[in-house]
Amino acid sequence: MSLSYSDLVKPELLSQPVYQGGKPIEEVARELGLNPAGIIKLASNENPLGASPKAIEAGKRALEDVELYPDGGCFELKKALSAKLGLAPEQFIVGNGSNEVLEIIGHALLGPGDEAVMGKGAFIVYKLVTLLFGATPVEVPMSNFTHDLEAMAAAVTERTKVVFLPSPDNPSGTANSEEEIRDFVGKLPDHVLFILDEAYAEYLENGPDLRDLIAAGRKVFCTRTFSKVYGLAGLRIGYGYGDPELIGLLNRAREPFNVNAIAQAAAVAALGDEEFVEDCRVANEIGRLQLEAGFMSLGCEYIRSYANFVTVKVGKGVRCFQELQNAGVIIRPLAPYGMPEWVRVSIGLPEQNEMALRELTSFLKS
Ligand SMILES: Cc1ncc(COP(=O)(O)O)c(C=O)c1O
Repeated sequence: MSLSYSDLVKPELLSQPVYQGGKPIEEVARELGLNPAGIIKLASNENPLGASPKAIEAGKRALEDVELYPDGGCFELKKALSAKLGLAPEQFIVGNGSNEVLEIIGHALLGPGDEAVMGKGAFIVYKLVTLLFGATPVEVPMSNFTHDLEAMAAAVTERTKVVFLPSPDNPSGTANSEEEIRDFVGKLPDHVLFILDEAYAEYLENGPDLRDLIAAGRKVFCTRTFSKVYGLAGLRIGYGYGDPELIGLLNRAREPFNVNAIAQAAAVAALGDEEFVEDCRVANEIGRLQLEAGFMSLGCEYIRSYANFVTVKVGKGVRCFQELQNAGVIIRPLAPYGMPEWVRVSIGLPEQNEMALRELTSFLKS
């Protein structure tokens, strides 16, 4: 009798769910026989304004040298990040999306017997990475859709290796105050690495700044991405910053050429275009108010978001997702996050938000 592949792979893989991302426009068009030009995607918290033209230009130039391997050390990008954040270049690790940086954390820190503390219903990748490395996710219920830091501190044990906290969180869009976060970090024992996931940091005014804690030797590591406000999701590039010793160790778990040259060049240029980022922030704020006003007039409860999406209660989330998708509006149902009555709508351009609200109105009437 022959063995199946399930007998060959690591046991932890067998219970590992596959990450379900927002559906690409082309896939929806294929499945439903729709014209892709008539479909809008508000499902993956992408930037509806695209990327800075400077980033696109830099990416195109980098394409000309595509026969060469990229700089595995991301020298130019680390230099630019160093200037922007006032940290040493050795304090940065760059990844194929911040997702990869989170996975590198798993490679470097998590194994069987270890625990990772996270909010129940927080960004699902924390759980996936933890399970992938055979460690145990300890999911702490949220309070009013917000991470309950007291309960999370109480969930830390001798086996806890890492604590994940997104600020703002996805899919709730909520954020803990800097004071609360600092108080929480102060309670963590020395054997725990605190990970602050700042994927949406640029949308959050007066967000937490923990650089002084890193300098003071607290076990703090932060991740950020170019996928959101910088509009480079398709290039897959993100980074983490922390103590140089930690970064040196994480680099051992990193693939040699994990970040492509086009992404690196585009990211450097994107960092330099602060005006574009500011325009995106303003547009996002206007879009948020538009969606909120629409949800309010429909009588739908929504969660005040500090990011580039709004999560709203619509009744049957999956039905709502399907009906809107049939009408050419892709949003995200939140059943996988334990919120079957809710959907997440990324903030789009005014006409896209309007279309989403229009289709939501007909769904709610039906
Ligand atoms: C909270 C959070 N962290 C990290 C990521 C990963 O982003 P990326 O891998 O594109 O950098 C996302 C993406 O949606 C996110 O919502």
